[in-house]
Amino acid sequence: MCGIVGFTGRHQAAPILLDGLEKLEYRGYDSAGIAVAQGGAAASGAEGAGAASVRGAQSVSRQTVGAGQPKGVSEGGTEPSIEIVKAKGRLKVLREMTDDGRSVPGTCGIGHTRWATHGEPSVVNSHPHYAKNKRVAVVHNGIIENYQEIRDRLTKEGFSFISATDTETVAHLLDKYYAGNPIEAISRVMFRVRGSYALGILFADRPGEIYAVRKDSPLIVGRSDQGNFIASDVPAILRYTRDVCFIPNLEIVKLTDREIHFYNVDQEEVEETFSQVNWDTEAAEKGGFAHFMLKEIYEQPKAVRDTVSPRISEGHVNLEELGMSQEDLAKVSRIQMVACGSAYHVCMTAKYMVEQTARVPVDVDLASEFRYRNPVMEKDTLVVVVSQSGETADSLAALREAKKLGYRVLGIVNVVGSSIAREADSVFYTWAGPEISVATTKAYSTQLAAVYLLAIGLGRAKGMIDGAAEEEMTAELLRLPEKIERILEEKERIQWFANKFSHSKDIFFIGRGLDYASSLEGSLKLKEISYIHSEAYAAGELKHGTISLIEDGILVVGVATQKSLFEKLISNMVEVKSRGAYVLGVTSYGNYSMEDVANYTIYVPKTMECFAASLTVVPLQLLAYYVALGKGLDVDKPRNLAKSVTVE
Ligand code: F6R
Repeated sequence: MCGIVGFTGRHQAAPILLDGLEKLEYRGYDSAGIAVAQGGAAASGAEGAGAASVRGAQSVSRQTVGAGQPKGVSEGGTEPSIEIVKAKGRLKVLREMTDDGRSVPGTCGIGHTRWATHGEPSVVNSHPHYAKNKRVAVVHNGIIENYQEIRDRLTKEGFSFISATDTETVAHLLDKYYAGNPIEAISRVMFRVRGSYALGILFADRPGEIYAVRKDSPLIVGRSDQGNFIASDVPAILRYTRDVCFIPNLEIVKLTDREIHFYNVDQEEVEETFSQVNWDTEAAEKGGFAHFMLKEIYEQPKAVRDTVSPRISEGHVNLEELGMSQEDLAKVSRIQMVACGSAYHVCMTAKYMVEQTARVPVDVDLASEFRYRNPVMEKDTLVVVVSQSGETADSLAALREAKKLGYRVLGIVNVVGSSIAREADSVFYTWAGPEISVATTKAYSTQLAAVYLLAIGLGRAKGMIDGAAEEEMTAELLRLPEKIERILEEKERIQWFANKFSHSKDIFFIGRGLDYASSLEGSLKLKEISYIHSEAYAAGELKHGTISLIEDGILVVGVATQKSLFEKLISNMVEVKSRGAYVLGVTSYGNYSMEDVANYTIYVPKTMECFAASLTVVPLQLLAYYVALGKGLDVDKPRNLAKSVTVE
């Protein structure tokens, strides 16, 4: 997903922009660009602004756009203008083109990493985009839904477009509406466009000022005594400040090197509060691990502990933060869970767990389906939206749909202050910390922990479990981190096994019940980072078609932790083995009969069956990681994927 950074302050902007964009690389991108304001009082009065403005040969991707009169290159920072440099491909190309930012002097700028939606990845389609009369530069994350109609209209009015993007319409609209008052121009654009946007904007005649606005796409503001920032996500500016404000939906922000002002869409100034992000830079960096994914796999014990332990006291689950009384909880007659991807697999696990523990029926939907299916739900249904980023477009739309229909929505979210966190009626934060790797691991584990806590709290409120059962379950929940640590100690066995299968064409996962939910996650993890075709099946379904795919040497991973389903799964493993499959068994210590059928077995510590998914997922994550590593792939940034899917 696109990434935005902006800085205005008492340092050179371009190196800070490049640094911030690098921290946003995890979102996935195909091109990048920066725009830096040149000239004007703010720039010339700032530290380092007098640095020689040496320009190399102009290229299609590098141009200086000015406030009015045509100009080539601005020297010395006196004439207000905006210099834009863009590059297709990795950020290092942009770094090279700008001598790590040194060749684009100026203390106020915006930067962007693009993940193509409208128009192929190319220099001309990359951001920043600008208006033809060279007064405005814009970076954008999101989608302008009515861009074609606006583009047609503006073209008739004489504006000419050079890119295939929706964003360029915003640049021209701003130009059209701008008559010296940026807030007014932005507000008029907000009324004119439909869709989602986080925008960073420079006006050439206002050097030293950045304008930002957002609707349904994330954007934060950071402040420090060295200057002020905008960014799509916290890690981009964590090196400079932890004092941040998540810009409320439909608000406009004006930043100068010393001041930040917020405005609503009616152009009235409004007050906003800043909060301290307690993540440290270290937590957003690799810290000695080869990849963020491996680091995050290793952070799981801590992440689960951080999520679970503050919610348990003296054997009881405390759900007070939901703002729901015991009576409110007892009244919940049904739960509707919605999410995407891995978070959806958490919901699958939740279905088994909540139904067994609280005897409350749970429906699970993909957010992208839920939002359009006009759902029929009972009156006292609690809608639970699960999301790491809190910005996933489909999940957010599902939340809004549920609220529109009058249901109470609980968000299980990792990113504090994100859209889902703000719009849900109740929020249950997972304390996983920043997750950088595109493939989720630690956030997934904390989401599982969150649904366990919810199931126990609900079970108790409904009188389905007694105090003793609650104590037993919470005690085991508190032991899970240590059990995950034990699995991690055996990573070499998994690594060895993974190396044998890194050249597979297809890999299948089978399981039943809770183990089926884990199989789905194991399969997704593998396919998304190793590019090996993989599917997960509820093992009972094999005979209904899939078994015809089994042939000699194909790897089938069987997950079996539940006593009542163990023998059934073993039979399914025998069936695939007798058709030539190589079988990997994943089970709990003690289930040694697995070895009678599996070619290779991975054991996880024993736990209560309802929590087994938290343990079986760890070897499956490691399997995916080492298979992808064996293929020499970019584990943290798999092709075509982005960390935060903020468009539909
Ligand atoms: C897979 C993965 C994705 C996300 C999905 C939802 O490893 O990370 O499938 O789980 O895109 O994202 P969030 O949780 O941010 O809503």
